[in-house]
Amino acid sequence: MSEATATSTETNAPLPPGPDGLPILGNTLDVMRRPLGFFEDAAEYGDVVTYRLAGQRFTAVFHPDHVERVLVDDHDRFRRWAGEEWGNTFAGYAEEGLLLSEGDQWHRQRLLIQDAFTPDRIESYADTMVGETERSVERWADEGRVDLKDATSSLTLRILARSLFDLDIEGRGDPVRRAAEALNERASIRGVSAFLPAWVPTPSNRRLHRAMGDLEDVLDDLVAERREDAADRDDLLSLLLAAETEDGTTLSEREVRDQLITFLFAGHETTALSLTYALHALGHHPDQRRHLREELDEVTGGEPPSLSDLPQLEYTERVIKETLRLYPPAYALFREATEEAEIGGYRVPEGSKVSVPQILVHRDERFYDDPEAFRPERWADGFEEELPDYAYFPFGGGPRHCIGMRFAMMELKEVLPTLLARLEVEPLGDPDLEFETAITLQPATPVEARVTRR
Ligand code: HEM
Repeated sequence: MSEATATSTETNAPLPPGPDGLPILGNTLDVMRRPLGFFEDAAEYGDVVTYRLAGQRFTAVFHPDHVERVLVDDHDRFRRWAGEEWGNTFAGYAEEGLLLSEGDQWHRQRLLIQDAFTPDRIESYADTMVGETERSVERWADEGRVDLKDATSSLTLRILARSLFDLDIEGRGDPVRRAAEALNERASIRGVSAFLPAWVPTPSNRRLHRAMGDLEDVLDDLVAERREDAADRDDLLSLLLAAETEDGTTLSEREVRDQLITFLFAGHETTALSLTYALHALGHHPDQRRHLREELDEVTGGEPPSLSDLPQLEYTERVIKETLRLYPPAYALFREATEEAEIGGYRVPEGSKVSVPQILVHRDERFYDDPEAFRPERWADGFEEELPDYAYFPFGGGPRHCIGMRFAMMELKEVLPTLLARLEVEPLGDPDLEFETAITLQPATPVEARVTRR
């Protein structure tokens, strides 16, 4: 066991160093002004750094050993934290869904839901992924100019809803995307709503409650319809409705609804952002785009890949890995120390929030040459094996790692080459992106592209 992973409970170790803040406000204003820049500056203090934000003490860890310690080795002493003291990142919605549940409830849910994510199940979604992408190809080409985040969100939401819930989401209006936007707006670290309870009537809280109310109505209708007509379906929704707990009771309406909300959000936003950033990066890197297309020509003759083609799309996979390194949708993970701990020779008091800024670890020059550059080639044979564990962790780690990881990787490997086989996507903006740090890593301004058929 390395020094970094040594554990202890009570400790006389000093608190970690960190940037001085203002009395009472701590570092709040600085974080709100430039969230990622704040983390970059904080990392100058070392691999374990303390700061104060909106009344809470935070410990940020920047070294892969510490990341592994918090997410994996000592996961039971660092529980997931979702901004409870600030009224919760999800504003009280989806509390009984897999992302936010805890303890026995989480464990029972994870075991149940895992059945919808076995390799066989995921493979059965491949045709839906390609079919929905072909629909988007036609629409984007007709539109000629698209906002990539909007266009990819609509695509990944259709894929998700069709695969996991056998649902034509477009026939139900657009409540999911409006609710996702409202959640991200409220959670944006630049706005005060992120630090206020959800009942405070700020404009963004009001928009959120309206959007979530609409979404809940749609989901309640959907569940009622499915209860009437559950025959011969084996998707995630049917699995949830049929599930029984040990004492023979079924999941409550609330639990089913919270699970739907969780998966509709976690399963489409993240992959849409990955596609947005991949298309943006490839648009500004013609050599890499050419390489990806040449691979596709070689493997499939330029057609959308079938399931059996995927293992041969090695370069495509490198593009996806590099995108998730440089633009990780889950840019930071958060935990809370349930008891006092020591990390890297420093004391982490009980109740301290622990931030794991994935995006900075992914861009750390100790592990990546020229870390700000988009270079899929770096993932050539052997590179990943040489990387320290947890220098790369786009899907998190430990028991609460992403349950949709295989789904997401397959989706990206089906969708990206299908889009590029059919379309020229020329980004219209600057190669350097500004970000908004909300629940996920959002582009601060629309990422627009001109789209033509090839
Ligand atoms: C590129 C796409 C994706 C990325 C980068 C991503 C990233 C992550 C990360 C980092 C976590 C762990 C958060 C933490 O430890 O605090 C997570 C959890 C989760 N993800 Fe994903 N995700 C992606 C796609 C998906 C998809 C497609 C689904 C569903 C189909 C999904 C559903 C979930 C759920 C339900 C959890 C909570 C798991 C638990 O706590 O047991 N994700 N994701």
